[in-house]
Amino acid sequence: FENEKTYGRFAENNSIDEFHKKFDDSVTRIQKDFGQNYPMIIGGKEIFSNDIFEVRSPADRNLILGRFPLATKEDTLHAIETARDSFFKWALVPYETRVRIFREVADIFSQNKFDLAAILSFENGKNRLEAMGDLDESIDFMRFYAEQLEINQGFSKQTKSATSNENTKSVLKPYGVWGIISPFNFPSAIAIGMTSGALITGNTVVLKPSSDAPISAFKFVESIYHKLPPAAINFVTGSGSIVGKTILSSDIIEGIAFTGSKQVGMSGYSTVTSHRPRPFISEMGGKNPAIVSASSDIEKATDGVMRAAFGYSGQKCSACSRVYVHKSIAPKFLDMLVAKTRALKVGKPWEKDSYIGPVINADAVQKFQNASNIAKKDGKILCGGDLVPDASCKDGNFVMPTIVAGLPKDHELIREELFLPFLCVEEFDNFDEAISLANKSNYGLTAGVFSQDRTEIEKFFEKIEAGVTYANRAASATTGAMVGAQPFVGWKDSGISGKGAGGAYYLLQFLREQTQTRCE
Ligand code: ALA
Repeated sequence: FENEKTYGRFAENNSIDEFHKKFDDSVTRIQKDFGQNYPMIIGGKEIFSNDIFEVRSPADRNLILGRFPLATKEDTLHAIETARDSFFKWALVPYETRVRIFREVADIFSQNKFDLAAILSFENGKNRLEAMGDLDESIDFMRFYAEQLEINQGFSKQTKSATSNENTKSVLKPYGVWGIISPFNFPSAIAIGMTSGALITGNTVVLKPSSDAPISAFKFVESIYHKLPPAAINFVTGSGSIVGKTILSSDIIEGIAFTGSKQVGMSGYSTVTSHRPRPFISEMGGKNPAIVSASSDIEKATDGVMRAAFGYSGQKCSACSRVYVHKSIAPKFLDMLVAKTRALKVGKPWEKDSYIGPVINADAVQKFQNASNIAKKDGKILCGGDLVPDASCKDGNFVMPTIVAGLPKDHELIREELFLPFLCVEEFDNFDEAISLANKSNYGLTAGVFSQDRTEIEKFFEKIEAGVTYANRAASATTGAMVGAQPFVGWKDSGISGKGAGGAYYLLQFLREQTQTRCE
């Protein structure tokens, strides 16, 4: 950690010691709330249930963080109907008021961000820096979308008149009720980003958070719902097969914002668009490559790849999972990368020095073991490949960061997204070949290159098929997009919308244009 300069906005004015001191205080403070029952929020009311599920920390399965209602189909339908009924109450609120509310919530989050980051660290296993990054991103999304609404004056403008007696306007209007289905890996930032996009533009929402990490999303809903007309935001917890399916199958829902796996996303997309066209904003994972050219600075390349592959245990959609390295430097690159990876400290993510935390659940551990067995058979494991043997990790889902070489070029481990700390390395002979190998994937989310040759870098940007691309990013080869700076968008099978979250065009997707002509 001492070498990391990325402990959030807090780094701008404070030392790393102050950061850890505040984080320590929060870790102590938040634990007293563990185990409590949380409600759903439907129609402006908190609704508890006897039918519940437990949320346990992936770093210590004995730690029950909270209990949430298992919503029924009727609960979900009620939330959707009440969101429809409150639509005009919210849609007609002046955009300046919506902007003010989001800024107020962003301020509340900013004041509480250490506590919120500590909760998030227990909840989904992010280390301190990554957890704080999630909170900073949440705040950025709220402020950025508020700013966009303001810059565009609520997306209403005068257009040129067809004739002298006509006064014409283009008004972008919200659709109605949006279903928001958010993932475990950014349980604050992505839940808030998608929900804010829909809400700030005047839509009402039904938010279903990941059952692995619903507390962070609850914290947002808790902070905002009483500032809005009742039912403008509804929070429904429970299974994908009941809550998710009911949202996706409802005819009242006018649009969906989804982040998660391609499999779930495509099935949701088919359901939602099966009998009428509706917007489906989605971001659906990646198999993100980094190219390390013969001319690269190997120190920077190994830093960047190590962080992008193993930060948050490879569970970011932006994580690097394929590396193409020029054969002339491959031995040196791999020696350095393996040494840096072996030095990473595995441990409870909320503790000061831990870099590698757990993976999210037992299914992820099983997937890791299957992938490692296949890698042992079909390739060569350079490091990792096992569960973490330390006694302190026995109650959590800890797996070792793993690097594999020597797999056949079209091997399933190189093609399919694993969402694990699992990196496949291949060698190449010339740079054009590396680009075509990098593009040989159905996914197209992020990509990175390390090179000191300008021609190579420009070729990379011309030819690479990915939405978020970086050259020589030692801090995190393919990860760490910042709101407003790097709009986050998936190409190919990584997304449907083509407009990046945290970018200038994102809000347009939650709005539909109406032209209004007033004749004299
Ligand atoms: N926005 C996250 C990143 O870029 C997913 O890593």
